[in-house]
This record gives sequence, C-alpha cells and structure tokens, in this order.
Amino acid sequence: MPEVPTQDRRPTPIVLDCDPGHDDAIALLLAVASRAIELRAVTTTFGNCSVGDATRNALRILTLAGATSVPVAKGASGSLAGTSELGNYVHGTSGLDGPELPEPAFAATDLTAVELIEQVLTVSAEPVTLVATGPITNVATVLQRGAVDLSKIGEIIFMGGSADRGNHTPTAEFNTYADPEALAVVLGCGLPVKMVGLNLTHQALATPKVVARMREMNHHVGRVAAEWMGFFGSSYRAIWEFDAPPVHDPCTVAALIRPELIQWRKCFVAVETAGEWTRGTTVVDLYDRYHRPANAEVAMTLDADAYWDLVLDAVDALGQAR
Ligand code: RIB
Ligand code: CA
Repeated sequence: MPEVPTQDRRPTPIVLDCDPGHDDAIALLLAVASRAIELRAVTTTFGNCSVGDATRNALRILTLAGATSVPVAKGASGSLAGTSELGNYVHGTSGLDGPELPEPAFAATDLTAVELIEQVLTVSAEPVTLVATGPITNVATVLQRGAVDLSKIGEIIFMGGSADRGNHTPTAEFNTYADPEALAVVLGCGLPVKMVGLNLTHQALATPKVVARMREMNHHVGRVAAEWMGFFGSSYRAIWEFDAPPVHDPCTVAALIRPELIQWRKCFVAVETAGEWTRGTTVVDLYDRYHRPANAEVAMTLDADAYWDLVLDAVDALGQAR
C-alpha cells in the first residue's frame, strides 16, 4: 500500500460511513492512502444517490484505489423518519458521474452496515472512530440499538450541518436535512462528537490550481480525481454559483490525520426537526446563548493549503502505486 508521510503514531482505526458521491470518493482515497488511518470498513447510505448506487460506487472507488480487502456493507435506504431525500441533482444519475470507473473487483458483505459497524466495534482491541460523510442514519441506528459496548466508539466525526447558511435549503445542509432525527440521536449520545459543517468545508475549494495539480500527476488516479472535480464543479457553478466546488467530506479524514489543520470550537449544537421552513437546520450556539453544556466540537477554520497538500499527496501516492 502506498505510503503518505504522516507523523509517527499508531494509525487511527475508522469506519467510513458514506454516500459516494464525488467528495466522499476523495475522502475514501485519502483514508486508503494515509498511514495515519486504518480503514477497518466502509459502510454506505442513501444520500447523494440511492444506497444501491452508493454501494456500487464505493466498491468501484476502492477497486480504483487497490483497496479490495476493505469490507463494504450496504446501509440505510432512507432516514429514521422513512424519507429518502437524494442528491443526484448534484452528483448525477449514478451518484458519481464523470469519468469511467472500473467495475468492482469485489462484492459487498452480506452484513448490513449496522451489523458491520457493530462487528468492527466488537472485535476491535481499541476504540474505533466513526466517520460519517452522508446522512448519519447508520451511526444513529448503532447508537439506538445499543447492541454493542458503545464505549468502543472513540469518537464520531461527521460532515454535516453548518454554523452559517445551508445548501440543500437556505438554512439546512444536505446530510442533516436528509435525516435530522439521526443527527439529533448523535448529538444526544454523550460520546465525543466533532461536526464538520459547511462553514468549514466551504474553505476546501478545488480551485483550478488544485485540479491542475491532479492532472499534472500524470497517472490514472489523478486524472479520475480531476474529472470528478470537473463534474462536481459544474454542479456547484450551476446551482450555487461557486467558482470552485467545496470538497466537503475529506475534511473529516484530514482532521484525523493532521488535527492541527482545523480550529475547533466546543459548543452546544441542536438540530431542528419540526420547523416548517427550517427542518434539518443545525443551531450552533457559538456564544453560549442557551447556557447548555457543549455536546460537540465544531470545525471553524481550515488550513486549506495544508489540506490540499495532504489530499493531493494521497491521490498521487495511490496513482503511483497502481
Ligand atoms: O452537503 C454536502 C454533503 O452532502 C457532502 O457530504 C456531500 O457528499 C453530500 O453527501
Ligand atoms: Ca457525502
């Protein structure tokens, strides 16, 4: 497996629960490439596309990355409330439109995502970090079932919500809008929770310079990543008038590899589940106006240059190893 230089410390064991999705795909590449991460399993959820498409995309991305021994399990097809809001309008019909990808070289397990997460937690000798980059339904279900010792969850870090505006609605970010009840379970679980919202990820823009660096790697993985950014960027330009797409999901994995890249703020966070116009909105109490105990660390500022160096090193390491 390629080596991406990181500080010398034991790798962080994670399960990456995702809805690939162009930015989830980059998060998967980063998790596979980094020596600071031990990718114990990948689980999928509805979100950017159906969970069936998300699962096929995850298998194809891991095949592209040469990580065909990572167990993959299919998860929630809808939210705790029984809805299934999809983001194909951003990610295309397949959920990962753009470049051709290899057919999966392996199959998903017969376990469900919840069963696989529980299995990983049960057999692990040390706490495992749950990383969620889609609607957080699978993680919430593990918490609600309580079928395993939840102290085996070291922390939960999720991409979702926002300390300022939304995207899917004017106030709500997509992952949280898709399953606000699930995020409420996570915010109330009492475990260490880190929130990486749009206020942070909008600092992680795949500018033309970043995309050029992907192309200049002069290998297949770099070209695929650049073409993903091309498709993702066309959606962001058309829908939200962004000059460059914010690559949200790898910010969670990068925070585990190099914690110093992000400045955090401990505060109380709530999620609206009943608002007629505001369902799915995260209420981030930065100035303790509600005088409630902090239940999350909220990502506030990103060292974007160092973030992209980390992500691009990972993409390059994988490309050179293929
Ligand atoms: O709002 C952005 C989030 O929704 C990202 O995780 C993206 O992949 C979609 O899941
Ligand atoms: Ca995602």
